[in-house]
Amino acid sequence: MTRSFDVHRVRADFPILNLHVNGHPLTYLDNAATSQKPRTVLQALNNYYEQQNGNIHRGVHYLSQIATDAYDRARERVAHFLGVADPREIIFVRGATEGLNLVAHGLGEILLKPGDEILLTRMEHHANIVPWQIAAQRRGAKIVVADVTPEGTLDLEDFYRKLNPHTRVVGLVHASNALGTINPVEEIIRHAREVGAVVVLDGCQSAPHFPVNIPKLGCDFFVFSGHKVCGPTGIGVLWGKSDWLDRLPPYQTGGDMIAKVSFERGTTFREAPEKFEAGTPDIAGAIGLGAALDYLETLGADNLVTAEKALLDHVTPQLREVPGLKIIGDTKHKTSIVSFTLDGVHPHDIGTILDNDGIAVRAGHHCAQPLMDYYKIPGTARASFAFYNTTQEADALVASVRKISKMFA
Ligand code: ALA
Repeated sequence: MTRSFDVHRVRADFPILNLHVNGHPLTYLDNAATSQKPRTVLQALNNYYEQQNGNIHRGVHYLSQIATDAYDRARERVAHFLGVADPREIIFVRGATEGLNLVAHGLGEILLKPGDEILLTRMEHHANIVPWQIAAQRRGAKIVVADVTPEGTLDLEDFYRKLNPHTRVVGLVHASNALGTINPVEEIIRHAREVGAVVVLDGCQSAPHFPVNIPKLGCDFFVFSGHKVCGPTGIGVLWGKSDWLDRLPPYQTGGDMIAKVSFERGTTFREAPEKFEAGTPDIAGAIGLGAALDYLETLGADNLVTAEKALLDHVTPQLREVPGLKIIGDTKHKTSIVSFTLDGVHPHDIGTILDNDGIAVRAGHHCAQPLMDYYKIPGTARASFAFYNTTQEADALVASVRKISKMFA
């Protein structure tokens, strides 16, 4: 059962939202970088260390067993969140970046050959570019880049022109962290499958904002970060189809991921997920992530989508009216991100002045330098809203941005 959505009641779940910054109530609009944590997540972390802390899988003692059970339940929780039937397809990683590195390294080893193509888009985050560049260099494969349009959507014509039987991998962001644009991934995945390409989806900005159902999407790999879905930092998720996980080599080696180690006969590995979780994992982080997903479910995914859309619809027309302001990625189908430039003002100056007013936004290239190069800008100021933001906070942003626009006019 979901409770009805009252933003002020929801805000009371987040202790940090009571902070004052530079003499103003905190207006936290940097949710695309990291979201804040509800009390239930903080309690789950505390409870783990106070009541459950033991290492998993190795011990027969009480604490080891309850820690193992809680860790396994967190994996099941994530599988449920993604609509995945088999929790063993869920790999806990440090974050989406580690997940993408793991996949790029592994596919480099088992799939890529000289002349193969890896099709990326100009709106990828560096974490979905650089691991592929390294894999391509190692294997003699080629990176091909699909363009974006001036409005900030993916140029689908260009994408489909570049998708061909040499495309072995498509690396695609589900929703852009720098623009907010949501890509038509189901359609793209269908076309990619027709040429036999493996599709790796970066779900960092989709998983926090709208329901993701992996079987419906039909991709081969999907990653997201725990800290962007109200979970702790240091924990993330890689989902992979089991036949790929069977074939991929380990990324790191060590304890807990081996079947047998012998100096004489060499080492054999366990199956996924353990094969990819060498050493003591972030047990507390996984449990905290499970608590975050429980929390979001209690609020109701539809409520969150509606609340964030209302904020975006409230703030966008007001910002469009600010003299000298240009929204980068002013598209219809987007998450609650508004990335903008102001004539004659460096994004870092916008960010600093907003901070003086207690408003937190991210300023810079957002780890998407090829995208900034396309728009010929050094970066943007990016306000990114979460369900716990209010229209008053959106108005505070608009008022401060208007003030900056006047100051530099
Ligand atoms: N990738 C995160 C962002 O967009 C950190 O801010």
